[in-house]
Amino acid sequence: EKLIVVVCGGGNAAHVMSGLSASRENVEVRVLDVFSDEAERWTKTLGDDSIVLTVNHPDGSHDEVRGKPNFITNDASKAVPGANLIVFAVPAFAHESYFEAIKPYVKPNMIIVGMPGQPGFEFQCFSILKDIAPKCCVIVFEGLPWAARITEFGRAITVLSTKDFLNCVVIKGESKIEGDPLKPIQYLLGPHPVATKLHNFLEPTLSTKSIMHPPIMYGAWKDWDGNPLSEKPLFYQGLTEEAAELMSGMSDELLATAKAISLKKPEINLDGVSHIRDWMYQAYGRECSDTSNLLQMLRTNSAYNGLLHPMKEVKPGKFMPDFTFRYLTEDIPFGVVVLKGISELAGVDTPITDKVLAWGQQIIGKEYLVGKSLCGKDVATSRAPQRYGYKSLDDFDPLL
Ligand code: NAI
Repeated sequence: EKLIVVVCGGGNAAHVMSGLSASRENVEVRVLDVFSDEAERWTKTLGDDSIVLTVNHPDGSHDEVRGKPNFITNDASKAVPGANLIVFAVPAFAHESYFEAIKPYVKPNMIIVGMPGQPGFEFQCFSILKDIAPKCCVIVFEGLPWAARITEFGRAITVLSTKDFLNCVVIKGESKIEGDPLKPIQYLLGPHPVATKLHNFLEPTLSTKSIMHPPIMYGAWKDWDGNPLSEKPLFYQGLTEEAAELMSGMSDELLATAKAISLKKPEINLDGVSHIRDWMYQAYGRECSDTSNLLQMLRTNSAYNGLLHPMKEVKPGKFMPDFTFRYLTEDIPFGVVVLKGISELAGVDTPITDKVLAWGQQIIGKEYLVGKSLCGKDVATSRAPQRYGYKSLDDFDPLL
């Protein structure tokens, strides 16, 4: 039987997912792109051609993969009916517009995939899709399977690298899907990455990498005098000791949150929640010339070599930090704020997270935290559980 896949988005992730899915046998691919006039531009640009993926391999060789989506539309009433899988392959700030667009057409037993989900995806999904969400299977990946960059909009993309394994969470709810719901996704992805199942959504959320960028931004810019710099500072190699300590402290607070949840609800398995230091060691130990502590791993990780702070050139050779970049504008409302909300529900104080959040929210002109409580006016546009009316840990039950 034919697999019908809706790929939501129009950026790097959506290009790879739609091209790759369309390259598989017996798959119908519909791209849903609700952003501006992107669907129309993409349709025109691609014409009758296929999307070309240049897939790089670790040994330096590469393959070419071609796939032609059946159609690209901004109209969910054309894309969603009859679909088996709906894959979100867009940045978190755009998820809401896709949930709203697909909502009238979602039917029981559809598989909704966050690729990646990012913290709060589950809260948003269950809140917007309300009664229908528990009848669907919701699968949330911890990251994107690839590092990828569009080389020609609508037509060509380079897959720089592919992960070997990728953690995911499967919320089967009341859905009735024959066999393993991961099977069709794994078919689309191919042999790699291998999708590995965690116990529940709290495990990846409380181990999220969204806590990396905000403390680094804090460390680099909290004492900045407001004057332009003559070069772009190194993001990881220039990391301050204070920033690494804050990152580690935020991670400690997440472990404390996991512990508090386990005490109140021992049935929730949180063995998979890990400290950022341990994750770093496991994921990048071989790439780091010094693994003695988190600071040194971040500074000496060859995969991070040469990465710079996001900066805007205001005059030739003069740079100002770009505070609109996703390191704050995505990782705060769809990261740190969600975590703070979960800690609050668990009754755990988070002084270190609060310190970074209080600085970051002011930089991006938002108010989430008031004192040490998550009750600012902009919680309403974050993905904190409080935004969706969660009052206690029991409200997590339908998502577990
Ligand atoms: P992207 O930057 O390519 O996404 C841009 C797309 O987002 C646009 O083409 C448009 O379709 C959509 N968009 C932009 N503004 C919008 C708006 N106001 N409303 C609705 N849609 C809008 O993002 P990319 O690279 O596809 O990444 C997707 C996710 O994967 C992100 O969360 C990113 O952090 C993550 N990721 C990406 C990696 C990569 O190599 N590209 C690697 C690891 C993670």
